[in-house]
Amino acid sequence: MKFYWTMNAAESGCGKKCAMICLLCVASFLAQISSAQSAAPQTKNEAVNANPLDAPGLEEKVDALLQKMTLEEKIGQLVQYSAGQATGPTSGRTDDRDMIRKGQVGSLFNVTGARETNALQRIAVENSRLKIPLIFGLDVIHGFRTTFPIPLGLAATWEPEIVEKAARVAASEASSAGVRWAFSPMVDIARDARWGRISEGAGEDPYLGAAMARAYVRGYQGQRLDATDSIVACAKHYVGYGAAEGGRDYNSTEISEHTLRQFYLPPFRAAEEAGAATFMSGFNALNAIPTSANPFTLKQVLRKEWGFRGFVVSDWNSVGEVQAHGIANDAATAARKALLAGVDMDMVSNAYHRNLLQLLQSGQIAQSDIDEAVRNVLRVKFAMGLFDHPYTDENKESSAMLRPESVSIARQAATQSLVLLRNEVVSGVPMLPFSARIASLALIGPLGDDAGNMIGSWGALGRSADAVTLRRALGEKLGDANVHYAKGTGFLNGPDSDIAAAVAAAQSSDVVILALGEDAPTMTGEAASRTWLGLPGRQEELLEKVVAAGKPVVLILFSGRPLTVPWAFEHVPAVLAAWFPGVQAGNALADVLFGAAAPAGRLPLSWPRSVGQEPLYYNALNTGRPEADPEHPAEKGEKKFISRYIDAPNSPQFPFGYGLTYTTFSYGVTQSSAKQLPFASLQNALAEPAHQSPVVSVSAEIKNNGARAGETLAQLYIRLEGTSVAMPVRMLKGFQKVALAAGESRKVTFELSADTFAFWGAENKFAVEPAHVTIWIAPNSAEGESTTLEITGTRQ
Ligand code: BGC
Repeated sequence: MKFYWTMNAAESGCGKKCAMICLLCVASFLAQISSAQSAAPQTKNEAVNANPLDAPGLEEKVDALLQKMTLEEKIGQLVQYSAGQATGPTSGRTDDRDMIRKGQVGSLFNVTGARETNALQRIAVENSRLKIPLIFGLDVIHGFRTTFPIPLGLAATWEPEIVEKAARVAASEASSAGVRWAFSPMVDIARDARWGRISEGAGEDPYLGAAMARAYVRGYQGQRLDATDSIVACAKHYVGYGAAEGGRDYNSTEISEHTLRQFYLPPFRAAEEAGAATFMSGFNALNAIPTSANPFTLKQVLRKEWGFRGFVVSDWNSVGEVQAHGIANDAATAARKALLAGVDMDMVSNAYHRNLLQLLQSGQIAQSDIDEAVRNVLRVKFAMGLFDHPYTDENKESSAMLRPESVSIARQAATQSLVLLRNEVVSGVPMLPFSARIASLALIGPLGDDAGNMIGSWGALGRSADAVTLRRALGEKLGDANVHYAKGTGFLNGPDSDIAAAVAAAQSSDVVILALGEDAPTMTGEAASRTWLGLPGRQEELLEKVVAAGKPVVLILFSGRPLTVPWAFEHVPAVLAAWFPGVQAGNALADVLFGAAAPAGRLPLSWPRSVGQEPLYYNALNTGRPEADPEHPAEKGEKKFISRYIDAPNSPQFPFGYGLTYTTFSYGVTQSSAKQLPFASLQNALAEPAHQSPVVSVSAEIKNNGARAGETLAQLYIRLEGTSVAMPVRMLKGFQKVALAAGESRKVTFELSADTFAFWGAENKFAVEPAHVTIWIAPNSAEGESTTLEITGTRQ
């Protein structure tokens, strides 16, 4: 945990002298510590490095340079274009080199390669008056050349260490190609699987999301941001974008301040605390104010409360789109509103380039508004060492890519991202893992041999030629002649004869693997929202016909979201959620299918039964008429007037945190070291700088009931009742992987600090309140045997 005590004291306008007593400072300090509450605490491996943006001497460098800059040069630092065709499709400019020479561009993206970036950098550094280097960005989302599982898959590992390693590999590859800035991590909380971009984040939970956010930032930015192999992280899309109404991309969002603070902001806060040097504002309107012109989220929360020192870049044209939102009737007003709200850099819209000068001359913005934004940009450029080493070594680029150790991390990450959803007993044994005796196998479906799709959306420089498909991996394992591959159908369509050929392949094989799901580039990621979450095209028909052939079937779902396939969950003996696993897809899947590795992934979201349940998330409020409350008067005898659907249960198909493996575990009753925690002592603990110290420990006995060693993911949930605002039926507050030998039992303990119990209450601050607390140590969000404790006392 990192504190901004001194900085906040200074920022709140009273300087160091009164820092110890000033009420404003105390309030600010409390806001700082408490706003971190719902972000997950660091694991022992996550020691926090000093924030590179606080490095001594940085401000002096920034100030000295700022003083030399003309107004045009200052505005130039706030302008970003997509390279490619000149300065990019939306810029309307064809004179990019001239613009760089004149200092009219601060950043370019979508240009990669040491030679290519160096050539442009040379213009900035050698031919522009002040020699300010460009920062080159890119959507490095789940790897650069070595592609890892999509972020939703990485979240399914519940393994921040592997995510950090993946991000480190991405940093080293990207930086060797001149890219020193990743537009990642996307830390949007997503509760609605219709939204295509659910694939790009860590799912629905703020605690897991915060852990993942930190891991990416630490991986990208490394031990030292100014190292040549580190890249700047960008926490996006700030904020609330994932709550797009109806799951329709770019749609508006309405999020109360409580919900924003409690659920949507914590992963951003965690990224900021981990030192993320940039943020990206969003496309969405949040409570009727576009997030790229939203002073509350950008200035009040990010800058004032959190003390963010980096810069904010807009999303693609999102400054321009402020007009379409309807709060600016021309581009100049859009630029003014965005700048004043706290967007420092304009991605491609041209609104800053064209309007800031005139806005200043007409007195609509102040010199200090521009200076502040330029300072933020320059601070990052200095902190990342760009002035000291603006160029990239052209001789090292190719050797940085796809190193064997990187590929092995990709295989590990992919293996751990696979979630086993179902594994029924067939002929006396669980369907998976396969026994070694399989003589022939039918591999059926459009995703069985589609290398490009293994990369997933936002593939950066990932190449399909590098990706191992399931067909290739199985062929290597069983011999090509024993793997009967039949595509069965395309994603959306295909002839009857292909389905017939697939059924024939199934009939002539011992077992069948069906590789079905979504086409990553067109059905997942940005602008890929869906109103129906079943298998696209004829795939459901293919599935049912192949299962009817009577052979044991394993269904592997490749997707950027949970898919509603209830028939499969009833009729197919084994189902594995594979997301899009990256370059090592086939090898990772073969490892798990044949038992070289056990499935370790757990769902980072609630898997719906039907699209009509969306938005669906486990950490929901109870309502006044909950479904499963037999004591409720409305439920006695009559089941109608409760909060439920008349045609489906409220519960998901599979709960958040769920996932099977090749052995089974039982969780004993959760025990707590204390039955009462005085409210006042928790409050004091929260106010102390070391407020992470434990106030209670909870434990449960976990037993491996099977005949094989295995690993379970012990998850800690709490519920608070009697509080000033209604709190969710469960909230994740910890997790740990527990490896147990066959038959072994172990007591697993979680040490809980005061933060665990703090939340954004009715008084509009993070605090602890007297409450009845239920605590579960459980294998997922729907199971576990709880204990209770009381936070006693009264609030002043
Ligand atoms: C996306 C961002 C991305 C940006 C730059 C936008 O359309 O929303 O996530 O970083 O483009 O490519």
